[in-house]
Amino acid sequence: MINRVQLANLPTPIEPMPNLTRLLGGPELFIKRDDLTGLGIGGNKTRKIEYLAGDALAQDADTLVTAGAVQSNHCRQVAAAAAKLGLRCELVLTGEKPEHAQGNLLLDFLSDAKVHFVSSRETRESTLEAVVAALSQQGRKPYLIPYGGSNAIGVMGYANAMHELQQQGFNPDWIVFATSSGGTQAGLVLGAHETNFTGKILGIRVDLIPQDFSSVLTNLVNGGAVLCHSRWRVDPASFLYSSDYNHAGYGVLQPSDIEGVRLFARYEGVTLDPVYTGRAAGGLIDLIRKGFFKPNEKVLFWHTGGAPALFAEPYQTALLA
Ligand SMILES: Cc1ncc(COP(=O)(O)O)c(C=O)c1O
Repeated sequence: MINRVQLANLPTPIEPMPNLTRLLGGPELFIKRDDLTGLGIGGNKTRKIEYLAGDALAQDADTLVTAGAVQSNHCRQVAAAAAKLGLRCELVLTGEKPEHAQGNLLLDFLSDAKVHFVSSRETRESTLEAVVAALSQQGRKPYLIPYGGSNAIGVMGYANAMHELQQQGFNPDWIVFATSSGGTQAGLVLGAHETNFTGKILGIRVDLIPQDFSSVLTNLVNGGAVLCHSRWRVDPASFLYSSDYNHAGYGVLQPSDIEGVRLFARYEGVTLDPVYTGRAAGGLIDLIRKGFFKPNEKVLFWHTGGAPALFAEPYQTALLA
């Protein structure tokens, strides 16, 4: 049995984007609004956390523990989920403690998460282990949520989202979105298999972590399939993702990110974020200009949230420069 708690406002709307479609000369553009999942300003992680927190509650955990960057949307949504479920939350965040908490970090504090700052990704792992050990010693029951909420349980969130898309009766030729730790993409691919989806699923990579991303995705999809008692296994060569738009590195704004955020705001009134969805939108716009899509195809941009980071330095200044 796969446990789940209801945290998100679902189904999220699908909206046409006629102005951007006209501006770019086709294909037909649509957007799925997972920025509107609700909990703690929403975003894609809430779909995963419904299953991860469900598992935590089934194990009688009393504290959710996870890690990410200082402006992590994942950590902000875990903190909000803990608040909603009456659990405690401890976060290990990579980066300096800023003088003023802004954006996602401000929301972490408002949700009453206890934050541990670490200087690098390397020290993050050891600190995470130390936090979990300390909680256990205090007699608490910590539940460790992996980076980005990406494991077989988290994959259920986006596998289920493909069932939601099918129920909405919308069948795009392409789904384009920001991909990072892989849980969103893996879930979409697993759900696409379960729903006989015939379109293509294209992730735009936002970070430069040197890793074999196909192996990461394969392990996540197959782990999810095992949880669903499915014998199907994904072909590792079947994943579609682009590494053409992550050259500046994670969270370092490049001109195509800024254009993505600006065009969606100016032409559709849609608020993207500087790190993930702005980068994916910049990639989408470039692919359209290069003629990657056929003019009559339907392209669904899956908005994964993240807007709170807009209200943090250094993004505020960079976006208006
Ligand atoms: C706004 C936003 N979009 C996309 C992603 C990428 O999702 P995943 O880590 O499942 O690949 C994240 C992850 O942190 C995110 O915060």
